[in-house]
Amino acid sequence: MRITPTAEFMLEPAFFPVEPNKDSGSSREAIGLGQRVGPGLDTRHGTILTLEDISVSFDGFKALNDLNLYIGVGELRCIIGPNGAGKTTLMDVITGKTRPSHGKAWFGETLDLTSMSEVQIAQAGIGRKFQKPTVFEALSVFENLELAQKTDKSVWASLRARLSGEQKDRITEVLETIRLTSSVNRPAGLLSHGQKQFLEIGMLLMQDPPLLLLDEPVAGMTDAETEFTAELFKSLAGKHSLMVVEHDMGFVGSIADHVTVLHQGSVLAEGSLEQVQDNERVIEVYLGR
Ligand SMILES: Nc1ncnc2c1ncn2[C@@H]1O[C@H](COP(=O)(O)OP(=O)(O)OP(=O)(O)O)[C@@H](O)[C@H]1O
Ligand SMILES: [Mg+2]
Repeated sequence: MRITPTAEFMLEPAFFPVEPNKDSGSSREAIGLGQRVGPGLDTRHGTILTLEDISVSFDGFKALNDLNLYIGVGELRCIIGPNGAGKTTLMDVITGKTRPSHGKAWFGETLDLTSMSEVQIAQAGIGRKFQKPTVFEALSVFENLELAQKTDKSVWASLRARLSGEQKDRITEVLETIRLTSSVNRPAGLLSHGQKQFLEIGMLLMQDPPLLLLDEPVAGMTDAETEFTAELFKSLAGKHSLMVVEHDMGFVGSIADHVTVLHQGSVLAEGSLEQVQDNERVIEVYLGR
């Protein structure tokens, strides 16, 4: 069950006036579009996420090993790599679920993720979708979206509270985006696996998070659902930054302009899918499995 939690958290104020960013892109190789993503989040260098020298150890085993990664504003980045490479651990670090033993993790220019709680990170605008859909099966599609919009702690208080016109419009918009308009009153439990995944993505979108993390989103989907997911992610990029972990290379090829290959907790290669697929170290790692 995942409802946006309500701990008090104020975003740091923007340090610079909001105006179109002229120095888009970054010396740190992020391929951001350079725009600001929302009040309070400072992305003046076009980088929404900065990870430097991140290491995570589990009883001496290094799941992440001096990892460096930069995600640009509006970018759609795919992360690939063999099982156990550290992809999920990477998402755990970004969302505050796992603390790195050392390294820096910044959301925008000013928010230090290593000193924020999971709740604070979610409220600052990092939305995460786990592999298994976690919708409220007994509630309708509409009610699920309604709940996701509220920051109230109580499910029932949220459902009782009246929606403003603006909130209803947002639900209508998200329903169209995830193609569930005709299922609006259906209990979520009766949706197909793929539709549940889309509903959960819709629930994330209700909060309009600048950064979305999606772990193996198309696992278990039909070909048609996978195709729609590709379309959906491409339409979300630009407005949001997306980090997508996926093993399905057909899917990765259909969405990614930039791919990062993880291996043994570090970045092995980065570039277009074609570039990384031609990289000898990458070929070795995949064929050596
Ligand atoms: N809580 C934990 N305790 C001990 N070891 C862990 C823990 N979480 C992850 N690991 C180990 O860290 C390594 C990286 O795991 P992770 O789940 O991040 O890999 P992954 O790239 O997501 O793999 P997959 O593609 O199979 O999902 C693995 O060897 C895993 O066994
Ligand atoms: Mg994983």
